[in-house]
Amino acid sequence: PKEKGWVSQYMYLYQQFWCPSPLIQPTITFQKYFQAKHNDIVIASLPKAGTTWLKALAFAVVKRSHSIPTSQNDPHPLLNSNPHTLVPFFELDIYANKTNNVIPNYLSTLPEPRMFGTHIPFPSLSHSIHNSDCKIIYICRNPLDTFISHWHFSNNILSSQSLPTLTLEEAFEGYCEGMHPFGPFWSHILSYWNASRDKPSKVLFLKYEEVKANTNSELKRMAQFLDYPFTPEEESGGVIDTIIELCSFKKMKELEINKSGKFANKIENKHFFRKGENGDWVNYFSPSMIEKLSKVIEEKLDMESIFLASSP
Ligand code: A3P
Repeated sequence: PKEKGWVSQYMYLYQQFWCPSPLIQPTITFQKYFQAKHNDIVIASLPKAGTTWLKALAFAVVKRSHSIPTSQNDPHPLLNSNPHTLVPFFELDIYANKTNNVIPNYLSTLPEPRMFGTHIPFPSLSHSIHNSDCKIIYICRNPLDTFISHWHFSNNILSSQSLPTLTLEEAFEGYCEGMHPFGPFWSHILSYWNASRDKPSKVLFLKYEEVKANTNSELKRMAQFLDYPFTPEEESGGVIDTIIELCSFKKMKELEINKSGKFANKIENKHFFRKGENGDWVNYFSPSMIEKLSKVIEEKLDMESIFLASSP
């Protein structure tokens, strides 16, 4: 166990990733008991890589038949529920606070396709996920922006609990050593990157920056991958634009549920929406921090192939 976690709690090195202590039991229970269905959809990511956005986009794509067009009487679920409620996390929500013998029975009766989220690295997902035909979409984000986003997020949570916050330098040391929730970041990213190369029909690897730059084409790619492609009529009828607008940072941040609601009865939804921009790290990193993290990235990650590779 190490004490230097980002959320002022112990983290344990479990199956080669840093797992915050309250999430160890839920992770083990998930690994042991989760039964995947062939049409399940799993949204995977490191914290602060764009999970909320990807959940919203994937949900809007897959469940589009019952909710478009939106109207006052039949509001889209994303207008009154946070994406983390619609697409719950295995370890933070479904299996949280459950002992080994209390398995959430409702899982088998959820409407299909079921959609879940996780921050657990690829090798540690349940065997059932590995062995079924269910699909995984991973979102990766530039590690510098992910770091800054996480620093703000954890300090917001810490101050809301009247706990001491972390300086940028303290958080940065842990990050460069790989010691942050579900880290090291390089192993996490590589685990899904390699899986997407080995099994392209099972794992789709997306990048936050690309989804931002080409939302329309990335959304189509996602829909195709999930076997929910847009028809020509939908494309010409503006369905894609409706989804993009519905899930946009500006729209989601302004929704009442995301301003005042709470996720899993703990974390205020507003903390999931900060700036939603690329490159905010330039406002925080000193030259020596840039040098240090760039070196870590260069040594541990093949940036060329991951961040510069164009989408297939
Ligand atoms: P910033 O802190 O850089 O603004 P996660 O969803 O994985 O927790 O990641 C949160 C990050 O995604 C935050 O980044 C947040 O502002 C951004 N984000 C949330 N919703 C978004 C959306 N609809 N579009 C783009 N970015 C979004």
